[in-house]
Amino acid sequence: MKANVFVTRPLPAAALDLLASRCEVQVHPADVALKPAQLAEACRDAEGLLVVGVRVNAEVLGRAGKLRVVANCGVGYDNIDVAACTERKIVVTNTPGVLTDATADLAFALLLAVARRVVEADRFVREGRWQRWEFGMMWGAEVHHQTLGLYGFGRIGQAVARRGQGCSMRIIYHSRRPVEESIERRLGAHYVGCETLLRESDFLSLHVPLTLETDHLIGARELGLMKPSAFLINTARGKVVDEEALVAALKSKTIAGAGLDVFEHEPHLHPELAKLDNVVLLPHVGSATGETRLKMAMLAAENLLAALDGRRPQNVVNPEVYG
Ligand code: 8YV
Repeated sequence: MKANVFVTRPLPAAALDLLASRCEVQVHPADVALKPAQLAEACRDAEGLLVVGVRVNAEVLGRAGKLRVVANCGVGYDNIDVAACTERKIVVTNTPGVLTDATADLAFALLLAVARRVVEADRFVREGRWQRWEFGMMWGAEVHHQTLGLYGFGRIGQAVARRGQGCSMRIIYHSRRPVEESIERRLGAHYVGCETLLRESDFLSLHVPLTLETDHLIGARELGLMKPSAFLINTARGKVVDEEALVAALKSKTIAGAGLDVFEHEPHLHPELAKLDNVVLLPHVGSATGETRLKMAMLAAENLLAALDGRRPQNVVNPEVYG
């Protein structure tokens, strides 16, 4: 008998076809996040759950008695109660690697956009406010030869460093431990302490997962250590930054600006953020290209099928279940 699989949003046909070749697949037809209670109801009989931007908490798991695998279509898996899955011997997988470059591209797009006031300037032209060219008009901040600071130096942080190299930037990073020297050499990146990173970065880009340790990693104290001319770029998770403190820092010009793809209470914005000119705000689109989303969906589907087949998936986040 084919295993039942529940998919929380419509996905590219190739991924759904792959699943359907081996499983009985049910897909939530709308591209919206199911509430935990709805999800619990929908996957009561499921052995496999493919999750896209949806919370999987203990309530869901408690009512999904047959579940053997939760395949997350995304690299960050803070939406899943992994400990509760491990307790129930449910395999959890994610999709690292395939979205590295797309996310790094977007982080760099935010960096350039906020430094050179691209969005503000576009609005200025669009709204018919441009009367004549002026020498002193719309001056922004230099990017080339400035210091790019990366908080977190995994795949995505390193990919942003590569883009920084293209702009002749000085690259410094902080992470739990330094990466191999050969990687540092290749990227021209220098490991520094957290305070040095905050003090010296002209652009501070965040690339850490959301965990108990990184929740509000950047708050009033950290923002206070940054240069008044510095910009904060966040394509990681909104909760890594204390948004209230960020708004205060942006208003008082403690820092020069921010480029944000993620927010503390998505999709809700802090009411003050949209009023500020020195921010660029995006709706969590780091991995949003057709090619990348297809690769993510395919990898999530492959991970799910491997687990259901009793094979070890490529990207297990709780290897303890095999212990
Ligand atoms: C996902 C992301 O699209 O991979 C991640 O961690 O933030 C995005 O690429 C999003 O999490 C929905 O699953």
